[in-house]
Amino acid sequence: VTKIVRVEAGRAEASEAAALLKRFFQEEDYDTPFNRIAESLAMMLDDPGCWVAQAVRDGEAIGIVTVTTMLYVEWGRLGEISDLYVLPNNRRSGVARALIEAAAGWCQSLNCSAISVVVTPEGEAKHGLGKFYAQHKFDPSGRTIMTRKLSGP
Ligand SMILES: CC(C)(COP(=O)(O)OP(=O)(O)OC[C@H]1O[C@@H](n2cnc3c(N)ncnc32)[C@H](O)[C@@H]1OP(=O)(O)O)[C@@H](O)C(=O)NCCC(=O)NCCS
Repeated sequence: VTKIVRVEAGRAEASEAAALLKRFFQEEDYDTPFNRIAESLAMMLDDPGCWVAQAVRDGEAIGIVTVTTMLYVEWGRLGEISDLYVLPNNRRSGVARALIEAAAGWCQSLNCSAISVVVTPEGEAKHGLGKFYAQHKFDPSGRTIMTRKLSGP
């Protein structure tokens, strides 16, 4: 039985969550420094517009989802799955499905009009994420996300 448990600041789950995210970023070769992962997670846990949850099986955290919300004229409040990761040995048994459904439920409780996810070219090539999210009722938007880096303070 897999339980979905919200991660709260200052609890033991918070350090498990940081460890899962670090492992995710390492396996997927993201160049985000480890201290940024922990700092961003701490900010998300303190922000009422964000939500982090873990999948727990036999007392072990085996998957994680992080969700961010933003306000848009077009959407009102829009949710976004920013991270979704399941430990390799626990894949293909519905864990991600349970995390996505829990994330959608939380977004609904905040009156989000939709929930989105960004599929990177690497995620598409390695995990076929477009097909995966389509199986979970996400439609491709055809939009391109463009970002401009800002220098720090
Ligand atoms: C993508 C990922 C989260 C899927 O986790 P998972 O727990 O194996 O997924 P689930 O078992 O809940 O899959 C649910 C459904 O999607 C299907 N599915 C799972 N992975 C899939 C994939 N890579 N491509 C296509 N379909 C997939 C399953 O067959 C299942 O369908 P079914 O219930 O009809 O059989 C996992 O492979 C992962 O952590 N990958 C690395 C991190 C990553 O890329 N995350 C996404 C970042 S946005």
